[in-house]
Amino acid sequence: MIRWGIIGPGAIATGFASAMASVAGGRIVAVGSRSVERAEAFGDQFGIPARYGDYDSVLGDPEVDVVYVATPQSRHATDTIAALQAGKHVLCEKPFALNERQARSMVEEARSRRLFLMDAIWSRFLPSYRSLVEVISSGRIGEPNLVEADFGFRAGDPNHRLFKRELGGGGLLDLGVYPVQLCSLVLGIPEHVVAEGVVGETGVDEMVAAVLRYGGGGLGVVKAAIRTNMACTARISGTEGWIEVPAMMHCPNSLTVRTFGGTEEIDGSYDGNGLRFEIAEVHRCIENGETESPTVSLDETLAIMSTLDAIRASVGVVFPEE
Ligand SMILES: NC(=O)c1ccc[n+]([C@@H]2O[C@H](COP(=O)([O-])OP(=O)(O)OC[C@H]3O[C@@H](n4cnc5c(N)ncnc54)[C@H](OP(=O)(O)O)[C@@H]3O)[C@@H](O)[C@H]2O)c1
Repeated sequence: MIRWGIIGPGAIATGFASAMASVAGGRIVAVGSRSVERAEAFGDQFGIPARYGDYDSVLGDPEVDVVYVATPQSRHATDTIAALQAGKHVLCEKPFALNERQARSMVEEARSRRLFLMDAIWSRFLPSYRSLVEVISSGRIGEPNLVEADFGFRAGDPNHRLFKRELGGGGLLDLGVYPVQLCSLVLGIPEHVVAEGVVGETGVDEMVAAVLRYGGGGLGVVKAAIRTNMACTARISGTEGWIEVPAMMHCPNSLTVRTFGGTEEIDGSYDGNGLRFEIAEVHRCIENGETESPTVSLDETLAIMSTLDAIRASVGVVFPEE
């Protein structure tokens, strides 16, 4: 039984704790919040025995094997490194860090301690993404050389963390990371990145468009926004056809493959909360003594962070820590 501790019991931690109910082999044994009342409320909601009014107590709890870092991205590096230094494995929410430099220090800490660490790109573990990889490997669309993807919505609350520069806000890191990881999955590491963006009055990117060029002749075209409702779809085109990824492109329930031979609909639906698939992967890795998941390797996470850095540099968003 893998024993989890959660820090930052907000929106995604609530989804995570709901998902845990349908995953075998693990349970949440501790939760830490900056407020003991919030820790108690979360503990009551999900039947978690240990509730703490700080994060350090979760890291120091000998009952905890692995920590789920669900705080805003401005804290991911500090919280992850503290958990690793306390001897815990870590699943860290996306975006993994504010930038590649922070991500590298997290990865070095985990590798030097031989502890498990993963960027929580849950899309990769969903049935639809597994099918997507299988369709591409089978050669049905030929050589894939163009990925187009967008993820954006109009965030209504101007006080939301998405608009706060000090919390690592902006559309690129929160939402754009999904189109970028899809490009990474299909095309690898880009050779060159160009981008334009619209920076709002709080200093974060509210709309971004980037083109990634790959050594093998491929292109990625990605868009993200927090003030514009986008289709949130993706298309992967190859020499023999293309794959349509419907909304939401980071957690689709199906895929459509169109080739000269016809159209194939692939069902990728599932029961329950989709975060359960990444939780199952963490269990599998820890049980097998694997310190990285081959599905979201730490080297790939570093490459994704480096692409996000390049896009953000073009757009001109700098976080206070930088
Ligand atoms: N995988 C996904 O689909 C997905 C979806 C949404 C978000 N995310 C990622 O998960 C992370 C958390 O997002 P969320 O939407 O869950 O955010 P959220 O609802 O604001 O929750 C974040 C939690 O972090 C804690 N926290 C610590 N320092 C904070 C600070 N300075 N300001 C605000 N909260 C702070 C708060 O808990 P306490 O104060 O109680 O400790 C808060 O409840 C982000 O990195 C986000 O990108 C992932």
